[in-house]
Amino acid sequence: MPDIAFAKPALPKSGALALLIHEGEKPSGLWEQLDEVAGGAIERAFRVSEFKGGKGKICSILAPCAGITRVLAIGLGKPAEISQTIVEEAGGTIVANLSHEAAVAVASCALTSQQCAEVALGAILRSYRFDRYRTKEKPDDKPKLSRITVLTAEAAKAKAAWEPLNATAKGVFLTRDLVTEPPNVLDPPEMAERCRRLSELGLKVEIFGPKEMGKLGFGALLGVSQGSAKEPRMVVLHWNGAGGNGRKSKDKPVVFVGKGVTFDTGGISIKPAGGMEDMKWDMAGAGTVIGLMAALAGRRAKVDAIGLVGLVENMPSATAQRPGDVVTSYSGQTIEVINTDAEGRLVLADVIWYAQQKYDPKFMVDLATLTGAIIIGLGHEYAGLFSNDDALSQKLTAAGLATGERVWRMPLDDAYDKQIRSDIADMKNVGGRPGGSITAAQFIQRFVNAKPWAHLDIAGMAWSTKDTAVTPKGATAFGVRLLDRLVADHYES
Ligand code: BES
Ligand code: MN
Ligand code: ZN
Repeated sequence: MPDIAFAKPALPKSGALALLIHEGEKPSGLWEQLDEVAGGAIERAFRVSEFKGGKGKICSILAPCAGITRVLAIGLGKPAEISQTIVEEAGGTIVANLSHEAAVAVASCALTSQQCAEVALGAILRSYRFDRYRTKEKPDDKPKLSRITVLTAEAAKAKAAWEPLNATAKGVFLTRDLVTEPPNVLDPPEMAERCRRLSELGLKVEIFGPKEMGKLGFGALLGVSQGSAKEPRMVVLHWNGAGGNGRKSKDKPVVFVGKGVTFDTGGISIKPAGGMEDMKWDMAGAGTVIGLMAALAGRRAKVDAIGLVGLVENMPSATAQRPGDVVTSYSGQTIEVINTDAEGRLVLADVIWYAQQKYDPKFMVDLATLTGAIIIGLGHEYAGLFSNDDALSQKLTAAGLATGERVWRMPLDDAYDKQIRSDIADMKNVGGRPGGSITAAQFIQRFVNAKPWAHLDIAGMAWSTKDTAVTPKGATAFGVRLLDRLVADHYES
């Protein structure tokens, strides 16, 4: 990961220079200076490549003058249409194109200090790598970029704006690490151990094992876990940032709940072999809650937040639960398990009920890679949003547009709820193919009392098979920035 610095504008004597340019902008500042030193080479290159600063357009110029190895001009588009996402994407473009340079200076005449920090955020997010298990990578193949210096007249202000963004980026990286780890390494106990380490950030960490959950009566979660040799865990992460100055806050906490199936074979209703390795990231909801809590603590967010994750492995074995089993959830409601592959909702049922009983939340948001059907419905562009609360839905939708982690609201309706009626228990865990993501959400809603609640089905968003502007392919950490933003915009005192 490159270091980030902010400094007063001055032409660098060595390394690469990224120029962030609005459409229609006239040369001034460093851009103009550079063009002079380079004998008009910048202007000429823009002309022959027809670079005019259009959004997402780039123009790369090699060694335009002594010292400077490369100039990368990046278009920001029209000034009136600038947004945080565009600025971040420019930062990502720098890293995507200049990773073989040792140092990059970033110059722009048009950006505010806040936007300079957002350039840095985009750059850092794009620079993520997971190389824990590579032992043979040649040094030449590794990215060399070790320092990005964003040039701005208000360097101190930009640095101050960068601090909280840096904390958020660290939360994103933690989530990506957890989601990427292989399932033999990251089992429920290991994931809980990694949560325990977060006490360093000032989070209070509670860990529940099978005994504690058994005593509480977590029959739904434990039913999923019973086929695995790995013990289940529930972890509760507390961040008390609302009080400040020794005051105790009286406000209700905001609560986040994550599905943490560290591997989902489907259980006895076993999945086909092709692509089953993807089910290592069936803990992405939990990974996101953990990264979010780390981000909130890292930037000392003025909020009381609680993150709860249900951690299990879904395996077929002689002790596994069977299709047809009836389990009693912590809420007391009974569930006929028709399909052992619809396990995420069983895990969430108990953790959500616990969160609600214990903490009287202001609202709850759960995240889960819950259904393949949401990928059919929304593809890999929007997460599914299901909610009993219009105000919360609107806030989530707005936070999604602001961060680029977009959500699309789907319906809830008693008519769908009928699909999960059981002949012998209070409900069954699947409702057939029609509206598969909705009946999954209806199932979860049966464990929510009259509390503002939103469920995010992130099955299509947690993992990406291709690079995007600020996210290299692989684990995306979708939801960390979305919910961090939701908190920042509405719930910090
Ligand atoms: N973890 C899966 C959902 C999933 C599928 C996530 C593909 C990411 C990519 C979930 O536990 C599951 O198996 N859901 C079933 C539900 C069905 C049995 C009602 C599904 O979507 O097929
Ligand atoms: Mn499953
Ligand atoms: Zn699953």
